[in-house]
Amino acid sequence: MSDQQLTIAVIGAGGKMGMRVSNNLQRSSHTVRYAENSPAGRQRTTDAGRTVTDSAEAVVDADVVILAVPDIALGPVSADLVPQLRPGTIVLTLDPAAAYANLLYQRADIEYAVAHPCHPSVFLQRKTEAELNDTFGGIAAPQEVVAALESGDAGKQAVAEEVIRQMYAPVLDVHWVTVKQLAYLEPTLVEVVACMVGDLLNEALQETVHTVGVPEPAARAMLMGHVQVALANGLRGDNPFSDACLIAMDYGRDKIIKDDWKSIFNDAELDHVLKQMLHLDHIER
Ligand SMILES: NC(=O)c1ccc[n+]([C@@H]2O[C@H](COP(=O)([O-])OP(=O)(O)OC[C@H]3O[C@@H](n4cnc5c(N)ncnc54)[C@H](O)[C@@H]3O)[C@@H](O)[C@H]2O)c1
Repeated sequence: MSDQQLTIAVIGAGGKMGMRVSNNLQRSSHTVRYAENSPAGRQRTTDAGRTVTDSAEAVVDADVVILAVPDIALGPVSADLVPQLRPGTIVLTLDPAAAYANLLYQRADIEYAVAHPCHPSVFLQRKTEAELNDTFGGIAAPQEVVAALESGDAGKQAVAEEVIRQMYAPVLDVHWVTVKQLAYLEPTLVEVVACMVGDLLNEALQETVHTVGVPEPAARAMLMGHVQVALANGLRGDNPFSDACLIAMDYGRDKIIKDDWKSIFNDAELDHVLKQMLHLDHIER
C-alpha cells in the first residue's frame, strides 16, 4: 500500500460509476478533480457537493486518471486526454473490454491499469441493514476487486491499489491478473454466464406464473429459497443435491444447454462478444 498523497482525476464523474467512485474518493485524503461533459452529469456532480473541473485542467498534474466513461467512448476520450498527461501517470479504466480490444490510446511512458469491482459476495455474512442493502458494493458491504496493470511495475501497482481500495471501499482484497484474464472474468464468466442465468431465472419465474398459472407469491418464494440452495450446493458444496434432483438437473442441462457451450472460453469467442459489446467490426491484435 502507498501512503503517498495523490492527485486523482475522475473523468465522467457524473455517470453511474463516476458518482459511486467520486462519493468514496471525496472522503479520502487525496486531492480529487471531477470532470464531466454532459449537463445532467455536471448537475449530479454539483448536487453531490463537488466542483466540476474541465478535463484538460483535471488531468494536468494528476498521478492517477480514472476514465469512468462508457466503454465505447474510451478510444476517443483516451486519444484526447492521454497525450496531455505527465509521464508516469496511471490511467485507470473500470472494465477490461476496451484495454483488451486495444482501443486505448497508447503512450509508452504511461501506466495502464484496469480495476473491476467483484460486488459483495452472495455468501458474505452481512451484519447490518446497510450491508444488507448494499448489493452493488462501494457503500457498506465489503467486496473484492480484480485488477490488471499492463507493465507489472510494483511501485505503480501499489499506487493503483491505494486508489482502487479507496474508490471501491470497503475492499477486502485486490486480486492482480492479466488484462486477458480479466476479460475472461468480465464479460465471459460473469456477464455471458452469471448475468444471463440470473435473467433466465426471472424468465422461468414469469413462465411459471403466467403460462402455468402458479400464484406469484408461491412461485417467487419457492425460487428465491432454491436459488440460495442451488448456489450453496453448486458453488460451495454445502450439501449434496438429492438423487432425484441430479436426474432433473441432467434433464435441464440436456434441454437448455448447447453441447458446445464451453467454446465461450475460446479467444475467438471472447473477441466475438467484445466486438458486439464495443460496436466494432473487428478486434485489433
Ligand atoms: N455501470 C456499472 O454497473 C459498471 C460496473 C463496473 C464497471 N463499469 C464500467 O464503468 C465505466 C463507466 O460506465 P458507466 O455505466 O458509469 O457509464 P455512464 O454512461 O453511466 O457514465 C459515463 C459518464 O461519462 C460522461 N462522459 C462521456 N464522455 C466524457 C468526456 N469526454 N469527458 C467527461 N465526461 C464524459 C458521460 O456524460 C456520463 O456521465 C465503463 O467502463 C463501464 O464498463 C460500469
